[in-house]
This record gives sequence, structure tokens and C-alpha cells, in this order.
Amino acid sequence: AAWEKQVRHSSTPRRVNGFSVLVTGAAGFIGSHCSLALKKRGDGVLGLDNFNDYYDPSLKRARQNLLSKHQIFIVEGDLNDGPLLTKLFDVVPFTHVLHLAAQAGVRYAMQNPQSYVKSNIAGFVNLLEVAKAVNPQPAIVWASSSSVYGLNTENPFSERDRTDRPASLYAATKKAGEEIAHTYNHIYGLSLTGLRFFTVYGPWGRPDMAYFFFTKDILQGKPIDIYRTQDQKAVARDFTYIDDVVKGCLGALDTAEKSTGSGGKKKGPAQLRVYNLGNTSPVPVGRLVSILEGLLNTKAKKHVITLPRNGDVPYTHANVTLAYKDFGYKPTTDLASGLRKFVKWYVNYFGIESKHSKETQHFDESS
Ligand code: NAD
Ligand code: UGA
Repeated sequence: AAWEKQVRHSSTPRRVNGFSVLVTGAAGFIGSHCSLALKKRGDGVLGLDNFNDYYDPSLKRARQNLLSKHQIFIVEGDLNDGPLLTKLFDVVPFTHVLHLAAQAGVRYAMQNPQSYVKSNIAGFVNLLEVAKAVNPQPAIVWASSSSVYGLNTENPFSERDRTDRPASLYAATKKAGEEIAHTYNHIYGLSLTGLRFFTVYGPWGRPDMAYFFFTKDILQGKPIDIYRTQDQKAVARDFTYIDDVVKGCLGALDTAEKSTGSGGKKKGPAQLRVYNLGNTSPVPVGRLVSILEGLLNTKAKKHVITLPRNGDVPYTHANVTLAYKDFGYKPTTDLASGLRKFVKWYVNYFGIESKHSKETQHFDESS
């Protein structure tokens, strides 16, 4: 059928020993960037996404359009659709799965807890059930989250630190994912690598994240809330630029060992790894806002308020020594440079003129 042809074409590598990667969440922020990077270096990529409306689906469609210009096909479907996943693995012998599909966002978990359970727990298990049964098994790299460190404030966070104080149901489902990965590795020999991303931002980003809606609200003259902790300290994040995260994802895929398979014919345990992928330099939210004010040439209407108990954690800070040692991960983009690229994209994407047109022009000339 035409569908099968598209699936095969998209996932066929164009380089010698190239990968065939199933990217779940390919219409999402990180998934779309990773899909393009893999395709550009000659790997085969097939996307899977359910195009849900957690945030404006038109942005997901626009990312899909961009990917289709690079011959990347996205199958529209849900992680919980077992027969669909089985069919994809029947058609394509995927060497790797980059599993990024999830219900993201920490505050929304108070409004729709079930969506986190469905995608992040049931959906992940469904994917692992399918992957364990195919031969040969693909190596799986999946998105965990810095949120597993919960209320920790001892800095910086290393992979061995405690993760038993999740502050949101989102964090709890990401922590559960790490435990689930352990069992599938232990019983079925699946090769699994978890990546704890730290507040990732950049062009084509997520409208539910603070840097994105702060930009929108500042431009529209609307007030923004800046959280401070209960003891009136600045809330800070280890904001990480998308290109750095993409390099980390590719590094993790490149160093993922093949699964041993159920029964463990190969000697030694299959791989189970977890890495921090952060920027190693936490920035207070107030500083994020002043950088945006400068780039947008507009003063924000700031409301500084005490952090509500809404799932947010006070502080994140990654130690990335392990990812550096194992696949040379080294973040290179500071927040000001990364936000400049985000604002350039934002202004172009939403076609903003008026007093920001000078900035637009400058950006256009430099690109
Ligand atoms: P995103 O929401 O832009 O991308 C996720 C994509 O998955 C979306 O396009 C969505 O439609 C799709 N999806 C969700 N549930 C699905 C399901 N059940 N079946 C099929 N598709 C489904 O988010 P993102 O920022 O690109 O995040 C990617 C991954 O990284 C997620 O697992 C997220 O939890 C994790 N993460 C992100 C950040 C960040 O700061 N962006 C930080 C830590 C972890
Ligand atoms: C982000 C993503 O949304 C999660 O999906 C992801 O798992 C998480 O990163 C992670 O690193 O694991 P978060 O850091 O909370 O979560 O990102 P934002 O929601 O963009 O918030 C950024 C900062 O702005 C936080 O410190 C938050 O407390 C603060 N904030 C948010 C405000 O000060 N005001 C607001 O109105 C909203």
C-alpha cells in the first residue's frame, strides 16, 4: 500500500551502517528537532505522533510540514495502539527507538492527571511490550526529566542523587518510567537509556512553557507572574538550548548497545543507563525575563509572587559529567544566545511587525 511505501521510504537510512529510528513524539518540540538532525546525517526516521491538543496542534502540523520537506513521514497514532506499533515493527526493522512522546508540563497535571498516566505510564509500557517481542530488539533511548529530582536543592544534581520526592504527578510518571525501564531491561534484556532533560527551550518550542508565553505576554502588554520560593529566594532553572539537547540525544543513540534479547544469549547484562542533559548553569526566572525584555525591546509587567504549590520545583542544576564521559556531551549555548535564536524564530513564525520590525529586519539580515 501507499502507506507502507511511505513508512519504508522514510525509515530507510541513506548512509552506510545508518540507523532506522522510530521517533515517537516527532511532531513535538524535541522530537521534530531530533528527527531533522538524524535525517540530515543520513539515518532513516519514521515519526509517530497523536497530534493531541494539549497545546495548539497547528504548531505540530507546521513542524510536520517542515519534516515532510525533508522526506520524514509521521504516522498519526497513539502509543497505546498496540496493533499499530506491531505493524510498524513488522514493516520496518528499527535499529533504535527515540521515545519522546509524552504528556509534558508540570502544572497541567493538576488539571488532567489521567493524561499523564495514559501517555507516560500505559503508553510507555505498551511501547516496551512491542519492542521486547521483536527480533532483533531495537535499542531504546527515552525522555525522562529533571523533575525526578523533585525538591532537591543540593547542587548540582548528579544521576545518583535521590529521586523520591516528586513535586508533581508529571514528575511521578517520569520517575515511574525509570523504574519500568529497569524491569524491562532486567527481564527481557532491552537496551534502555533514559535522558533527564532540563527545561529545554528554543525555536519551534512549546507554547505552554514560561519562556514562550512570557514572550507572547510581554509583546501583548499583558502581566506575567514571576515565582519566588516560599522563603523568598529566586526560582531558578538550568535552561538548556535545543541544539545541545539534540547533540545529547544523538550521542546517546550512537553509544547505545544492542539488546541481549530475552534469554540473554549474549554474555553480560544489557544496557540500562540514565543521564542528565542540562546546561550546568542555573538562571533565575527574573533574569530570563530581563533577557527577553532586552531582545523584545519592551518592558514586562512583572508580578512577583510566591511559588504556588502547583508542581513547580524551586531549583534545577545538572551535573553532566557522566554524559560527557560516555558520549562527549558538552552544552555550548548560554541563555542569552539561545533566547535570541528563539525570539528570531518567534517573530518570523508569528509574523510580528510594528516596533519590533527593526529587530526582525536585523535578524533576517543575519540569517
Ligand atoms: P511536546 O509536547 O512538544 O512533544 C511530545 C509529543 O508527543 C507531542 O507532539 C504530542 O502530540 C505527542 N504525544 C503525546 N502523547 C502521545 C501519545 N500517547 N501517543 C502519541 N503521541 C503522543 O514536548 P517536548 O518538549 O518535545 O518533550 C519531549 C519529551 O521530553 C517528553 O517526554 C517530555 O516529557 C520530555 N521533557 C521535555 C522537557 C522540556 O523542557 N521540553 C524537559 C524534560 C523532559
Ligand atoms: C519544563 C517542562 O515544561 C517539563 O515538561 C519538563 O519536564 C521540565 O522542564 C524538566 O526540566 O524536566 P519547567 O522547568 O517547570 O518544566 O518549565 P516552565 O514551565 O517553562 O517554567 C520555567 C520556570 O518559570 C520555572 O521555574 C517556573 O517556576 C517559572 N514560572 C512558570 C514562572 O515564574 N511563572 C509562570 O507563570 C510559569
